[in-house]
Amino acid sequence: MSYHIRIRDRQNDKVYEADIEGDRYILESLEQQGINLPFACRNGACTACAMRVKSGKIEQHEAIGLSTALQEEGYALICSGYAISDLDIETQDEDEVYQIQFGQFFAKRKRHWFQLGLFLDFDHD
Ligand code: FES
Repeated sequence: MSYHIRIRDRQNDKVYEADIEGDRYILESLEQQGINLPFACRNGACTACAMRVKSGKIEQHEAIGLSTALQEEGYALICSGYAISDLDIETQDEDEVYQIQFGQFFAKRKRHWFQLGLFLDFDHD
């Protein structure tokens, strides 16, 4: 089944529209139509391809790098997601999803140097 997709590329101030098949990854389908959007790993792990879903639904059971909470907040990884309805999506800010999902963990840590000269991290309460 095919679906219509509208993508707002906020960084390049462009809007793309296309029809994509529901049994192919969204990113791959768009690339085959000459629409190039951000990506890195292409396997649902890095969040570089994360989009904000303005309307519609994306099946993303393969998106291991995106928490269920963020999926429910309206984010999706298009490298490993399939359209299951017409979609209206937009690009995220650079590292937006990564910071929301992982940034909090780095901010809580203090770094210490040890006698062997190794740079080690550990949690501090
Ligand atoms: S390109 Fe890495 S999660 Fe999609």
